[in-house]
Amino acid sequence: MKTRTETIAYQYFVVALLLFVLQVLMGMWLAIQYFYTVPQSVVDLFPFSTARAMHTNLLVLWILLGFMGATYYVTSVETNGEVVWPRLAQFQLVLLSLTGVAALVGFFFGWTQGKPLLEIPTTLDFLVVAGALIFLANVGMTMIRANRWTAIQGSLLGGLVFLAVMYLFGMPFYKNLARDWYYWWWVIHLWVEGAWELIAAALTAFILMQLTGVDRKIVEKWLYVELGLFLFTGIVGTGHHYYWLGAPKFWAWFGGIFSALEPLPILLMVVNAMRDVRNRTQPLRPVLTWTYLIGMVVLHFVGAGLFGFAHTLPQINYYTHGSQVTVAHGHLAFFGAYALLNLTFFYLAIPRIKGFLNAEYNPKTGQFGFWAATLGLLGMSLAFSVAGVLQTYLERVQGQPYMIAQEPIRLWMGIAAIHGAIVLIGVLFIVRHLLTLKPGRPAKFVPA
Ligand code: HEM
Ligand code: HEM
Ligand SMILES: [Fe+2]
Repeated sequence: MKTRTETIAYQYFVVALLLFVLQVLMGMWLAIQYFYTVPQSVVDLFPFSTARAMHTNLLVLWILLGFMGATYYVTSVETNGEVVWPRLAQFQLVLLSLTGVAALVGFFFGWTQGKPLLEIPTTLDFLVVAGALIFLANVGMTMIRANRWTAIQGSLLGGLVFLAVMYLFGMPFYKNLARDWYYWWWVIHLWVEGAWELIAAALTAFILMQLTGVDRKIVEKWLYVELGLFLFTGIVGTGHHYYWLGAPKFWAWFGGIFSALEPLPILLMVVNAMRDVRNRTQPLRPVLTWTYLIGMVVLHFVGAGLFGFAHTLPQINYYTHGSQVTVAHGHLAFFGAYALLNLTFFYLAIPRIKGFLNAEYNPKTGQFGFWAATLGLLGMSLAFSVAGVLQTYLERVQGQPYMIAQEPIRLWMGIAAIHGAIVLIGVLFIVRHLLTLKPGRPAKFVPA
């Protein structure tokens, strides 16, 4: 290990990766229940809703811990210094991990607020807020003390503050359920299509700069355009969730039009990354980091941009709302945009943290893991999509009751589960590879 900050970042990465495995295991259990009828005694002990809360909360927790570790790493590189309060950063990791464990155990005993993805009870919310405040103070103070401001640091900090503030809107329980859902979207939508996109744009800019040595001015120019477009389309785009929950009617227009523009900044990220790939005269090294990076930008666009666009207009969403079509989009978007972003960052940072920047390592395990997880997830999302279209037709066009419509859908959920098993194998390979990375032969740089 080189520096104190690098050690801390690595600890965040390790916890994140272990939670990722647990998340996917829980996903497997969910998918199995859709095609195999488990005995009622098992359902009574461990209901679907509990497992679903674990699956999605583990997802949010590991992605956020990954972002936090990455932020500590980026801050130390960009400020050319160390995190000001290293012990506090470690305390924060312990605090958030223990809160996560308490939440999982609590779900098992029915201690939940009930809102999807934000099930954790208000008492634990306060611990999350404490962790977030410690984090922001630490990162903010490190930047202020160093006083070497860059666009990457600024956007990262902006995205993180935005993320933390939005969380507060999901904490209270509003007695009026329409209002409760209204603010629920301020967290869910404004996270993944607002704050997290800013963080993703900043981290992607950082990764590209580190990998290519491309001029900071060029990176910053793209970053500003992306951020502007993300905020412009993403904030008003929240309206694509207000069609059917009792909000004013004008949202059908606003939400439809603005959210239909959301794929634009994502496309810009793809174009930006591909331009750097094409302009490169040297080979793309390390191969694996590039594989993950390109996979990330492409699947971010497919999952969020294309699958998102497919059901964002009110005329279509009227039929697909809350069906397996939504699940297909949720998986591909989260995986493509944020799971792969974290994994790309880990592949960039871990060899550097372990001090073998210029040594080639054996990429085979990571390569196999990438293709298994990615193709498995793509197959799974396509199976969810077919199930979703079928569900939409049977329930919303024919008017069949939910449980009757489930029978023909069962097969497709089975196909989704088989692909899920491939995802699980891929994830196990990736995590094993990342946690045991060691230097191999020194890199041979063959000119392209
Ligand atoms: C990386 C970015 C994104 C992620 C991670 C993401 C994830 C999700 C998730 C998990 C849901 C389901 C929420 C729930 O009801 O439980 C959802 C819903 C939705 N997303 Fe996205 N999304 C992203 C970007 C987009 C974009 C860019 C669009 C539009 C172009 C979009 C359109 C929608 C729509 C319309 C729904 C509501 C579906 C329904 O009515 O059931 N999403 N998204
Ligand atoms: C073995 C792999 C996986 C399987 C079999 C699986 C399966 C499932 C199932 C069956 C659900 C419940 C859907 C419903 O309520 O109808 C679910 C929810 C969800 N999973 Fe997974 N999952 C897996 C991996 C992942 C991964 C890797 C991610 C993200 C990186 C992810 C993100 C989500 C999200 C965001 C939801 C909520 C979707 C929504 O609200 O629409 N899952 N998963
Ligand atoms: Fe949204």
